[in-house]
Amino acid sequence: MTATTAPVLAARDVSMVFGGLTALAEVSLELHEGQILGLIGPNGAGKTTFFNCLTGLYTPTKGSVTLRGDRLPSDPARVTVAGVARTFQNIRLFPSMTALENVLVGRHARMTQGPIASLFHGPAYRRGEADARRRSLELLEFVGLRGLDDELARNLPYGDQRRLEIARALATDPAVLLLDEPTAGMNPQETEAARQLIFAIRDTGVAVVVIEHDTKFIFSLCDHVSVLVQGRLLVQGTPEVVRGDPRVIEAYLGKPPEEVEAEVRQYAEEAAHSTGTAGTADPADSAEDLDTEGGSR
Ligand SMILES: Nc1ncnc2c1ncn2[C@@H]1O[C@H](COP(=O)(O)OP(=O)(O)OP(=O)(O)O)[C@@H](O)[C@H]1O
Ligand SMILES: [Mg+2]
Repeated sequence: MTATTAPVLAARDVSMVFGGLTALAEVSLELHEGQILGLIGPNGAGKTTFFNCLTGLYTPTKGSVTLRGDRLPSDPARVTVAGVARTFQNIRLFPSMTALENVLVGRHARMTQGPIASLFHGPAYRRGEADARRRSLELLEFVGLRGLDDELARNLPYGDQRRLEIARALATDPAVLLLDEPTAGMNPQETEAARQLIFAIRDTGVAVVVIEHDTKFIFSLCDHVSVLVQGRLLVQGTPEVVRGDPRVIEAYLGKPPEEVEAEVRQYAEEAAHSTGTAGTADPADSAEDLDTEGGSR
């Protein structure tokens, strides 16, 4: 939780060069247990590229990424098994599969049944499948999609598809969850439900990194914010520090910190009013019994 503990995820001097374009230049960042870290910056700043480097989709031109001290491989499947899950800026579900099947795909990334067990569909295999199904249904409920297990992913409303993608990522039992613009295209109620869902995910012990353009959302959600501009980390710190930094105001926010602070306060008050809750989900609750939908929809 504090900066004195070892980070769960650490990027050291990560650079990514495409041809002549430097998309990331020596980006170092630490994510600690219990943290929700926001990554903001203008279009083309390198935010998604950074996620791609963290998850093995891209091999950084330079630098390293470690999870609990172990270097992560440049292989998305192995990074998933190691404990880093993500969602995508452009939703990547299996559209012709049901919601439940989509989550099961995430679950199967974690399963240890060998080829012999699955060939003969023995008791161990059947037990594994039953557990996977049970856990996937719990996760659908956790993200607020209870009752929609048999719906085809492509028939779900946009906001529900984003939540389904989060459920699929959670099904891999990650230590770290990376969310790339999780509220893009959502209405205010869906956005608030997503904010509460991210708090609830953090409360289950998963460290979260969130990319978003909506700075009110980020400043009212995250305990640490990193600002990326033209591939470089401009400023990192608490929301208060970041929104008060003259460089961030000039390069990104374009308005004084008091104005941003007032907006964030109003945003949080309106959000609490719209859901009938003032704070986050109860940390004592577990993933199994949380209904994050609240009264907001
Ligand atoms: N595979 C690639 N090949 C070439 N250039 C790339 C590739 N991926 C990203 N880029 C370039 O790297 C830069 C950073 O892009 P990136 O998508 O990471 O930005 P972003 O901060 O996520 O922007 P946005 O907010 O618009 O999503 C851009 O100039 C982009 O065109
Ligand atoms: Mg992006």
